[in-house]
Amino acid sequence: MKTIRDLDVQGKKVLVRVDFNVPMDGAVITDDIRIREAVPTLRYLQERGARLLICSHRGRPKGKRVDELSMAPVAAHLEAVLGCPVVMAPDCVGPEVERLAGSLADGEVVMLENLRFYEQETKNDPAFSAQLAALAEVYVNDAFAVSHRAHASVVGVPERVAEKAAGFLLQKEVEYFQRAMEDPVRPLAAVVGGAKVSSKLGVLEHILPRVDRLVIGGAMANTFLKSRGIGVGASLVEDDLLEAADRLLKKAAAAGVKVYLPVDFVVAEQFDADAVTKNVTYQDIPNEWLALDIGPATVAYFIEALADARTVVWNGPMGAFEMDPFARGTMALAQAIASGHALSITGGGDSNAAIKKAGVATEIGFMSTGGGAFLEMMEGKILPGIAALTDQP
Ligand code: 3PG
Repeated sequence: MKTIRDLDVQGKKVLVRVDFNVPMDGAVITDDIRIREAVPTLRYLQERGARLLICSHRGRPKGKRVDELSMAPVAAHLEAVLGCPVVMAPDCVGPEVERLAGSLADGEVVMLENLRFYEQETKNDPAFSAQLAALAEVYVNDAFAVSHRAHASVVGVPERVAEKAAGFLLQKEVEYFQRAMEDPVRPLAAVVGGAKVSSKLGVLEHILPRVDRLVIGGAMANTFLKSRGIGVGASLVEDDLLEAADRLLKKAAAAGVKVYLPVDFVVAEQFDADAVTKNVTYQDIPNEWLALDIGPATVAYFIEALADARTVVWNGPMGAFEMDPFARGTMALAQAIASGHALSITGGGDSNAAIKKAGVATEIGFMSTGGGAFLEMMEGKILPGIAALTDQP
C-alpha cells in the first residue's frame, strides 16, 4: 500500500477522504479524536504544497440535505486545530465546488459538504464518483473508520484515480492491527465483550486460531455459559446461538486456546441504574435477575489471565458500563490493560468510550478510530477502501 510519502503533491489538488463523523451535542463536538488524528496527514500535504479538498460524511442523512449534519461546525473546529483558514464549500460536487477547487493556492484548504447529502455516495454511483474524482489530481484515504463501506468516496473515486495513497492515520491503523493480529509478540490475549454473540461471531471464529487466550465478558458471555448448561436467570441470551457458542468453546479446547468466562456477576432486578444489585457467583444468579456486570472475582481472574500477555486486543465492554453500578468491571479491566506491559490495541465505540471514562486513554498502546471497520478487520476481511488503493484504474 502506497502512503502519502510516495506522492508528489506540489501544486496539485488532492482530495482527502477523512472520517469526521464525530459525535456532537448540538453544535459542540464532544470527541474530536478523529479530527486530531487526521491532522498529521493534512499538515504534511499542506507543507508539500498540496491544494486540499477534504471530504467526509456525517451521520446517515440518506441522500437528504439535513442542516444539523452539515460539515460546517467540523470545518470551524478543523480551522482551530490546523491553525489556518478552512473554507466551507456549499456542496461536495457541482459547479460552485469546481470553481472553488480551481481557485485554490498551494497549501489552501477547502472542506466539502457532507457526502451523504447525496444517496449516490452510499450507492457508489459511477457518475457521482466520476464527479468527485474530477475535482482533484490525487486521492488520499485517511478515513480508516469508513473504509469497510464500498461507497463512492471510499471505492468509486480511487478506482478512477491513478495517483492515490493512504494517509498516516490509515497507515497507522493497518500497521498496529498487523502488529497485534498478524505478527504479535506472544502470548496474545483477546478480550471480547459487548451485548451480543451474533455481532461478534465472525470475530471469534477468525481470532480463535490466532490468539493464545480469549477472555469473554459482557452479556455475550451469558450465551456461552448457558451453552454449558449454566443458568443465567433473566439475563440477555441468544438461544439460537447456543450451538455456535458450544462449538466455539470446543474448537478452542481442541486448539489449546484458553477461554476465560465470568465466574461471578453484579446482578440486578431491572436494567436500571437505580435497581437493587448484588454480587453472586455464576451458579447463583436468581431466576428473575439480570447479570449486568462481571463481579470482583471475575475482574481478578481476567486480570490474572492478562498478566503475562505481551499483546492485548480489546473490543467490547464487560457490562452495562454506561450505568455507574455496572461500570466497575469494565473500568477495572481498562485500568489493568492500560497499566500492563503488553502492547494494547482497542477498537469500537464502546471500548473507547469506556477507556475514556476510566481516564486511561493516554496509556493505551493504540486506540483505533474505527468501530465497524475495526470489527471487520478482526473478522479477517479486506476492507474495500484499502483494496481500492492498490487497484489501478
Ligand atoms: C463510523 O462512525 O463507524 C463510521 O463513520 C461509519 O459510519 P456508518 O456506520 O454510518 O457507515
